[in-house]
Amino acid sequence: MPSQIEIRSAGRRLPAAERVAIAVLGTDRGSAPEAPRALRGSLDRVVRRRGWKGDEGQSGEAELGGGRTLAVYGLGEAKKLDGRRLRKIVDRAVADAVSANARSLAIILPDHACARGERNAERLGREVLLAGYRFDRLRSERKSAKLREVTLVPPAGEGKSFAAGVAAGAAIGSGVVLARDLANTPPNEATPAWMVARARELARRHRAQIRVLGPAELRRKGMGGILAVGGGSANPPRMVRLEWGRGPLTIALVGKGVTFDTGGISIKPAAQMEEMKWDKCGACAVLGIFEAVARLRLPVRLRCYLPLAENMPDGAAYRPGDIVRLANGKTVEIYNTDAEGRMILADALAWASSEKPDALIEYSTLTGACVVALGPTGAGVFTPHDGLAAGLLAAAEEAGERLWRLPLWEEFLDEMRGTHADLINSGGRWGGASTAAAFLSQFVGGLERWAHLDIAGPAYRGEGKDRRGATGYGVALTVNWLRRGEA
Ligand code: BES
Ligand code: MN
Ligand code: ZN
Repeated sequence: MPSQIEIRSAGRRLPAAERVAIAVLGTDRGSAPEAPRALRGSLDRVVRRRGWKGDEGQSGEAELGGGRTLAVYGLGEAKKLDGRRLRKIVDRAVADAVSANARSLAIILPDHACARGERNAERLGREVLLAGYRFDRLRSERKSAKLREVTLVPPAGEGKSFAAGVAAGAAIGSGVVLARDLANTPPNEATPAWMVARARELARRHRAQIRVLGPAELRRKGMGGILAVGGGSANPPRMVRLEWGRGPLTIALVGKGVTFDTGGISIKPAAQMEEMKWDKCGACAVLGIFEAVARLRLPVRLRCYLPLAENMPDGAAYRPGDIVRLANGKTVEIYNTDAEGRMILADALAWASSEKPDALIEYSTLTGACVVALGPTGAGVFTPHDGLAAGLLAAAEEAGERLWRLPLWEEFLDEMRGTHADLINSGGRWGGASTAAAFLSQFVGGLERWAHLDIAGPAYRGEGKDRRGATGYGVALTVNWLRRGEA
């Protein structure tokens, strides 16, 4: 599923797009020095209309001749203009081009610091790709997007590094789009075997090595967690290992891939259960990261581990009271079959850490408790390693993805110790995000540089008919972190 929009950057000449968007500062009264001469007449017609102030949010259109359209957006005051405000306007320009059924769009960026430099160019490139995103391949009448080509015209004096920034943004954006497309695919289609097929396509496209374990091999490897969770489903579980690239560091990524979470025998209530198709968002983020990293050809050896299973109630399903042995030999008494994520992740973490990576990052829609703590926009990060925490927090901040560190105190681990088995899979009422993380800590061997990201809040948006959907959270922050080149 390729990204739908081709983005490029152009020189200062006006590209031959069907639709041209220009953003002008309020104080300019439309004198916009960045406007190419060919636009002047049409631009003047908009900014001389009565009531035009160039305020943020104000917009107008005029004919450009040849069936082309000029769209003008107000930027407000120069003093108050920043990257966020500019990205919002770029978002709107793309959305308007989509509703106008345009096939191509050129956006002339304002001559302002927030549109300059490689990093700003990258954010804009990413934003353009995501602004046009819709998941509509299963709709009979597709509302969207004839838009195929968006050209960003940079401010004067911005050249090669701007173009490089836009290209990097497009690569990251395409990873985010992949993560969203996979995650939004409904659970009757996106079974563990379907996820494997998508991973195989990626491996072929980027010449990566792929290994897939089915039930027989999972049994041979002693992976009792994923077998237990997947046992109640007609769609048997799989574990994927994907390896790509070379570099000074080997980084392991693990992503929770529960293709649907009913809760199992400890079944969830009916309300909003359909959201649990997004319980595979961790695995989808890892595949999105893989896509972006391979496109960017980052100098790193990436190893991705995806435990894939469907959590269903059934005669063959695992049950509360079962005691299950996991891949590193530890035993777990099941208190709640809805605490399934940690069971499949434990097997994946044991495998990943046994291969001694320099660092391991794991992504999962693991607990409702984390959403209670941080709300729907931020993820929690749990790690014993301060340097790794600092690096991830800085990378997330730069990516515009919210991340906050939460504790892994030993009291949380005490809560997870069992009587008849080494561990229990569900603790008491309090600190649910941290007790889950403490459970996971028992499966990384001696590795210090590991982090668990609980993305249950930001991975998807459940509400709002036209805005609900997966976000691709985690792709941008991880690419930034990997580019820092530190474990
Ligand atoms: N997939 C859920 C967590 C979740 C909740 C993700 C809400 C997104 C939104 C997970 O498998 C789960 O059911 N967790 C339980 C754990 C409990 C049984 C210890 C939870 O959070 O209630
Ligand atoms: Mn669950
Ligand atoms: Zn789950």
